[in-house]
Amino acid sequence: MSISIAIMAAGFGTRMKSKLPKVLHKISGYEMLYYIIKESKKISDDITVILYHRSDLIIKEMNKYFDDINYIIQDVKNFPGTGGAIREVNPKHKKLLVLNGDMPLLEAKDMLLFTQEKADIVMSSFTCKDPSGYGRVIMDDKNRVEKIVEDKDATSEQKKIHDVNAGVYLFNVSFLKNNLKKISNNNKQKEYYITDLVKIANEQNITVKAIKIDEEVFMGVNSKYHLAIAEEFMQKRIKKRFMEDGVIMRLPATIYIESMVEITGESILESGVSLLGNTKIIDSHIKTNCVVEDSIVENSDIGPVARIRPNSIIKKSHIGNFVEIKKSNLNGVKAGHLSYLGDSEIDEGTNIGCGTITCNYDGKAKYKTIIGKNVFVGSDTQLVAPVKVEDDVIIASGTTVTKDIPKGSLAINREPLKIINNFFYKFFGKKYE
Ligand code: UD1
Ligand code: CA
Repeated sequence: MSISIAIMAAGFGTRMKSKLPKVLHKISGYEMLYYIIKESKKISDDITVILYHRSDLIIKEMNKYFDDINYIIQDVKNFPGTGGAIREVNPKHKKLLVLNGDMPLLEAKDMLLFTQEKADIVMSSFTCKDPSGYGRVIMDDKNRVEKIVEDKDATSEQKKIHDVNAGVYLFNVSFLKNNLKKISNNNKQKEYYITDLVKIANEQNITVKAIKIDEEVFMGVNSKYHLAIAEEFMQKRIKKRFMEDGVIMRLPATIYIESMVEITGESILESGVSLLGNTKIIDSHIKTNCVVEDSIVENSDIGPVARIRPNSIIKKSHIGNFVEIKKSNLNGVKAGHLSYLGDSEIDEGTNIGCGTITCNYDGKAKYKTIIGKNVFVGSDTQLVAPVKVEDDVIIASGTTVTKDIPKGSLAINREPLKIINNFFYKFFGKKYE
């Protein structure tokens, strides 16, 4: 079935108390508006997003992902409100599904629930514990939806109703064309409410079908508190999918995984792990409290408490605690403790001793450290980049490497150790004698 979709995102999002437009707030790595457009595209080839507040910024951000979306600017001065939002939409198909831009949890399958109904208007409601902020669904004595009353316009009796309007509607476009202009702004907010179309339809004996849907999926994000709740739902969804695919998670509630992350094979994530951006975890064990961002980890174990920063590729390696890796390529490497490896390439069989640091930055530019196969890097080594260490090298503990080291050699720049007998007693005096 072909339907058009309109996504309303012109509101000021005042309740978010933020400079950033509401629909650009992120949940698990992507903007709320991204999710709803992505899901809409699965069922429609005609998507219009209605904007006003900071429209340039919103279009710029969405252009990073989509190139086939129509954007229109609402005439908010003359027609504020959700009823004003859809005035200028020009649907290609006979049915228009209207969505709120602040519903990041809605999936294509939920949108399709509406298209299964035959009515001029299909609206949706759910029953919730805390209905404040939502429009209340008023039923008539025949148990049909009579009208929707907004929170701000509701009487104290109406406010007690826990059945609320979810904010998703499927309209026959012909009904819309005939009735949109009949909406008035005779309410507390002096806004044009899309919800008034229900009352208008009833007055004309036009069928309004109400479907019951799931609060978890249809929740609207109006505040940063809602944002956090929506994120928890999204996280549960993401983690459930991976666990069903064979990933083990220890205390999953403490793990955070962004939407673009991929995890495959028999991977294990321990508690407190954050996987961010375009991270791929393949057959690996990520131990407690690690952060991996925009990196690939394959056949390796990481942590506990290690940080893998963007553009790292770690294969067949063991990375221990308090190791930070950035923009580095490690293949078959052991770095067990307390190291910083940045802008480096390290090859098979190499052991990075505790406290090793790549000095990759001279205050102006970043330089590379290249370490070959089977290198033993002693503890507390500094590698001053740009520098290259060839295969089969031993670097003595405490060495500052300032030039390239040829294959098969030992690098050591240690001062001979001096021992001065009884110095302690001379220095601190008689009380120790
Ligand atoms: C709306 C519904 C309410 C429903 C709730 C569900 C109306 C009048 N009320 O209330 O019945 O229970 O959603 O979440 O529709 N927008 C515009 N232009 C505007 C105003 C808003 O495009 O002039 C957009 C907003 O950006 C937002 C969406 O419409 O994405 C809903 O607006 P919002 O202010 O969040 O409406 P609610 O008060 O939540
Ligand atoms: Ca809302």
